Amino acid sequence: MKNKSNFTGQLGFVLAASGSAVGVGNLWRFPYLAAKDGGGLFLVVYLVLVVTFGFTLLTSDIAMGRKTQSSSIKAYEKANPKWKFLGILTFLVPVVIMTYYAVIGGWILKYCVTFLTGHGFDAAADDYFTGFITDPVQSVIYAAIFMLVTAFIIFRGVEKGIERWSKYLMPILLLLIIAVAIFALTLKHGEGADARTGLDGLLVYLKPDLTPLVGGTFLSGVSHFLGILLDAMSQIFFSLSVSMGIMITYGSYVKKDVDLNQSIGQIEIFDTGVAFLAGMMIIPSIFVFSGTEGMAAGPGLMFVALPKTFAAMGVAGHFVGGAFFLMAVFATLTSCISVLEAITANCMEITGKSRPKVTGVLTVLYTAASIIIALGYSLLYVEVQLPNGSTGQLLDIMDYISNSFMMPFISLLSTILIGWVLKPEWISDEIEQDGIKMRRKTLYRVMVKYVCPIIMLILFLQSTGLLGMVLK
Ligand code: PFF
Repeated sequence: MKNKSNFTGQLGFVLAASGSAVGVGNLWRFPYLAAKDGGGLFLVVYLVLVVTFGFTLLTSDIAMGRKTQSSSIKAYEKANPKWKFLGILTFLVPVVIMTYYAVIGGWILKYCVTFLTGHGFDAAADDYFTGFITDPVQSVIYAAIFMLVTAFIIFRGVEKGIERWSKYLMPILLLLIIAVAIFALTLKHGEGADARTGLDGLLVYLKPDLTPLVGGTFLSGVSHFLGILLDAMSQIFFSLSVSMGIMITYGSYVKKDVDLNQSIGQIEIFDTGVAFLAGMMIIPSIFVFSGTEGMAAGPGLMFVALPKTFAAMGVAGHFVGGAFFLMAVFATLTSCISVLEAITANCMEITGKSRPKVTGVLTVLYTAASIIIALGYSLLYVEVQLPNGSTGQLLDIMDYISNSFMMPFISLLSTILIGWVLKPEWISDEIEQDGIKMRRKTLYRVMVKYVCPIIMLILFLQSTGLLGMVLK
């Protein structure tokens, strides 16, 4: 294809791919899962799964992109024309995600502005979050701003847009998170025997809590462990941005002389490192000011419990809260960019139209979609019962379709395609160029042929609610 853009080198690629991988999943979802699933126990399980299962999915996506020099639809078609449908299905994941990602970006932007303008403590009020998302004007304005900034970066292309922004934002993010994590360890609240310190909180995060495993019957222990495994597995998916065509598109921009072994290792380390540091920052902060009960807030942790913690810190809370939400804006922006880029790249390949034209059309469509989804909490409020038992509004419905339904299904089919139809060598040959040896090759082969398809099937059945029905 003419005018094909490329990353300038390995660093540009690793930072852009890490920019996609590091997002609210690392800053908010990972810490709350770690708190819920026994601290150190979750960390160990997660780590083992990243270097096996995460590695396999990330390698497949990136190598497939570079080998075919295409985004998902064309990549699957080139791999095997009969499997083009899987490329189309993969393309539809970012198409769905993009309808709501800028809305979440807008929420985070709102909190960032609130903290940076010195009104952060208002955000600690119980109804602040609900008040904001149910306000049709504010929620729409913030979503639209986030959407337009993303579109502007995509419009500028891969080198001038995505790569340059990631090169600035990712190192700043890393420095900020390290600074806040160190600060969190110095916190102290309460007097005498009741005092809680950041270091106590760190222990809560790192020490494996095995009580639920060994406290009950053998069966209850096993089922608890299975729950942790599934949590860690779906988190890895989300966190590494795999099985949604994004890493296929980014892989297609990598030059042939880049050693993919190294890049993949660095992306794994970056993504897991940021998630780990985010936990080091959030869990001690919440523990010190709100105790272990504060951590039970689950998904509401970021927008409801965390601002309360910042408020309890006093003056320092303005600084820490502002820094946290600024980081979250950067992280969400680089992830949002990758979602829109995957859609843009596919559309450019299919229609043959230029980047400015495609971006222009997509900007109009997705600004409209973001407005509709943002209004899902006010003018367009609905309550829909989802197959996994929860009730959702427009945003939750889109999230359910992409994350719980499509992603495990796509991974299941793509590992079958690579493991059994194309054969693992189709991927390993791409990595082994210029005398480079593929690392963890046997592991990759076993994972892609046997382990991944089975685990994906279980994950799919579990997240669609079918597993519960089968086991009943
Ligand atoms: N990987 C991102 C995170 O961990 O927050 C989330 C994400 C990015 C999900 C891009 C989906 C996506 F298309």
